[in-house]
Amino acid sequence: MSTVVDDFDRQYRTLLATSSLDSERIDTLIEDLIHQGFSYQRDFFSPTLIDALLADLERLEACDALASAGIGRLNEHQLATSIRGDAIRWLNRESPAQQVYLERLDELRSQINRSLFIGLFEFEAHFARYPPGAFYKRHVDSFQGRANRVISTVTYLNRDWPADGGGEMVLFESQQQGPNGFDPDASIREMTRVLPEAGTLACFLSDTVPHEVLPTRLPRASIAGWFRRNASVNGVVDPAR
Ligand code: OGA
Ligand code: MN
Repeated sequence: MSTVVDDFDRQYRTLLATSSLDSERIDTLIEDLIHQGFSYQRDFFSPTLIDALLADLERLEACDALASAGIGRLNEHQLATSIRGDAIRWLNRESPAQQVYLERLDELRSQINRSLFIGLFEFEAHFARYPPGAFYKRHVDSFQGRANRVISTVTYLNRDWPADGGGEMVLFESQQQGPNGFDPDASIREMTRVLPEAGTLACFLSDTVPHEVLPTRLPRASIAGWFRRNASVNGVVDPAR
């Protein structure tokens, strides 16, 4: 007789068997990060894993488990939606797809640690759903002084994304933050645009690469995540999220 535990385990093992990462592509990604501060790789994740993650996000959406995203200390709704319009849910290993995704990202983390000696010790990630018309204005993911987010990752879940679908992520040239953050007068140059196509993984340095999400025309699904290192400030360990 099949039980819920058996089903979870069977799906977990099937997904694990069909989602191996290519370690040469991870090396390319690390080389790109070193030389240009960002990298993106198409078809980095297998279609089976991507489809399972999308089904999981759709299940969460159907049971109203997504929450509108906030921004830093600003929590006034109106203000937040003028900056970002996505709804999110943190991954927590509640499904086989989340479990396998987090394990694969952990493999990526060990390979980065071995090549860069930077000791990333944790990964946190959330699903994000952008409804038509939603965007995320230009920002950086980590601020001076609390720079515990080191490398940002974005995995896209959208099959057959049309060229005119909008929703590209634009990456801008790296900039160093001064003691008061970025210089508002500094000129800013676009580096690349990434289409949110199923299977693509984008990575960039969290504290130096400004980026934005252009308004999407279609519902857009992704997983944003961050490799972190332990940043303890005045003896207080900054917890994840
Ligand atoms: C973010 C972000 C980019 C994307 O969530 O911080 O920049 O393409 N996401 O979804
Ligand atoms: Mn971001």
